[in-house]
Amino acid sequence: MAPRSISSPLLLLSAVLLSCCCGLSGAARPAPSAAAVGNVSFIRSWCAGTEYPTLCDATLFPHAAAVGTSPARLAWAALNVTLDGARNAKAAMKEMAAGGQLTPVAAEAAGDCVSMLGDAVGMLRQSVETMEEQAEEEGQATQQASRTARFRVDSVRTWASAALTDDGMCMEGFKGEAAGVREAVRSHVIGLAHLTANALGIVNAMAAQTPP
Ligand SMILES: *[C@@H]1O[C@H](CO)[C@@H](O)[C@H](O)[C@H]1NC(C)=O
Ligand SMILES: *[C@@H]1O[C@H](CO)[C@@H](O)[C@H](O)[C@H]1NC(C)=O
Repeated sequence: MAPRSISSPLLLLSAVLLSCCCGLSGAARPAPSAAAVGNVSFIRSWCAGTEYPTLCDATLFPHAAAVGTSPARLAWAALNVTLDGARNAKAAMKEMAAGGQLTPVAAEAAGDCVSMLGDAVGMLRQSVETMEEQAEEEGQATQQASRTARFRVDSVRTWASAALTDDGMCMEGFKGEAAGVREAVRSHVIGLAHLTANALGIVNAMAAQTPP
């Protein structure tokens, strides 16, 4: 598990941009190969259709080599990133719930949130596994293969959309709480909500390309 939660999308973004564009040493890098440029523009064009394209680019460019120009591998990478985000958000909320500094009502909301994020982790894990299977069988043109593809993509849409609902419900649970508590919860969960929305956007776009 990553040592830091995705509590600040901006921080994450600058870290990713720094490491992929400048290199950690700041040294000049050789010009990227034509294949790398093609892979990155493939990601950029799919990310352009998502709700948070800048976050999408920043989180998926580092996986360009694994994605290549495959929609299933792109969706798989986006789900990977979202699953990590969900695990981190759940851990952060668990820590908050156990911190003993919340009112009883807020502590209950925090407990509910941990369990909703736990559901989201489970659904995203299933999504990752299912998209991995699809990525491995991509390109098979039989009728059976396309029925299976349709079924997988539809299942992942259902799970990712339920995970997005859980992210939102977690934050909603704190509606009546003090601004400081709401802000803290939001900082733990909003990055995840954006990653989930992007992954769902990619899977929806993939569904539009998958024969019925
Ligand atoms: C680009 O994608 C292809 C196809 O998946 C892959 O073989 C290649 O390693 C990738 N290249 C880079 C530099 O990302
Ligand atoms: C998704 O994560 C798994 C496990 O870390 C990794 O092996 C796989 O290459 C990732 N898939 C993509 C497309 O990045």
